[in-house]
Amino acid sequence: MGLERPPPDLVRLATLHRTDKWGRHWYARHYQTHFEPRRLEPLTLLEIGVGGYEDPAKGGESLRMWKAYFPNARIFGLDVFDKSGVEEDRIRVFQGSQEDRGFLERVVDATGPLDIVIDDGSHQNAHVIASFEALFPRLREGGIYAVEDTQTAYWPRYGGSLDVDAPHTSMRLFKRLADGLNHAELIRPGYTPSFFDLNVASLHFYHNMVFAYRGRNDAESNMLRANVPPAWLVGP
Ligand SMILES: C[S@@+](CC[C@H](N)C(=O)[O-])C[C@H]1O[C@@H](n2cnc3c(N)ncnc32)[C@H](O)[C@@H]1O
Repeated sequence: MGLERPPPDLVRLATLHRTDKWGRHWYARHYQTHFEPRRLEPLTLLEIGVGGYEDPAKGGESLRMWKAYFPNARIFGLDVFDKSGVEEDRIRVFQGSQEDRGFLERVVDATGPLDIVIDDGSHQNAHVIASFEALFPRLREGGIYAVEDTQTAYWPRYGGSLDVDAPHTSMRLFKRLADGLNHAELIRPGYTPSFFDLNVASLHFYHNMVFAYRGRNDAESNMLRANVPPAWLVGP
C-alpha cells in the first residue's frame, strides 16, 4: 500500500475549477511554489484574462481558483469582454483592454496597490509589454508579477519573432531585465539605472512562464565600490 503524498493544493484546485493552468498547461505547480508562502495574507490579486472570450456566460475559472486558494485575498480580473457575470463575494472584474494604459491605471486606482498580477490575456507581445510596464510599478514591495504563455515571443502571429534576439518581444524584455539585476556591475560610465533596474529583485524563468518579483535592487558593486579601476576589469 503506497503512502502517496496528496498533490499540491493548486494542482488540485486547478483541476477542480477546470482552469487550463493544469492539464493543458503545467503552470499550477509553479504558482504553488511562488504563492504558497503568501497564501494566508490579505492580498490584492489581479488577473488579466478572465476566460470564455466573447461568451458572457463563460470564464472565471481561475478567479474562483484563486479565491479558494487565497482565503483572505481580494480577487480582481480584467477582460476585453464583459465578464460581470462572474462577479461574486471577493471577486470583481473590469472590462477593458490590457494594452490601454489609462484603463489599467483606473483599475489600480480602484483596487489599490497590487500584491500579485497574472497576465493570461491576449498573449500578444505588445500587450504583455504594455501591461507589464503599466502594472509592475503598481505592485507593492515584495509583489509578484507572473506572465503565462511566453512562448508567443517566438510566434509572429502574436507579434513575436523567429529571431530570439529580436527587440519588442516579451522574452527579450525579461532577458534584458535579467541584465538589469546586475546593473551595478556594468562598466558604463554615466549609466543611469532605470526604474526596472532598481525595482526588479528577482526573475524566475520556466517553460512558457516568467515570474518577476518587485523589491529594491540598489546594492553597490563590490568591485567597483572598492575602486578597482574599470580598466583592470576590462582586462588586457
Ligand atoms: C486564456 S483566456 C483566460 C483564462 C483564465 N485566466 C483561466 O485561467 O481560466 C484569455 C482571456 O483574455 C481575454 N483577452 C483577450 N485579449 C485581451 C485584451 N487585449 N485585454 C484583456 N483581455 C483580453 C480573452 O477575452 C479571454 O477571456
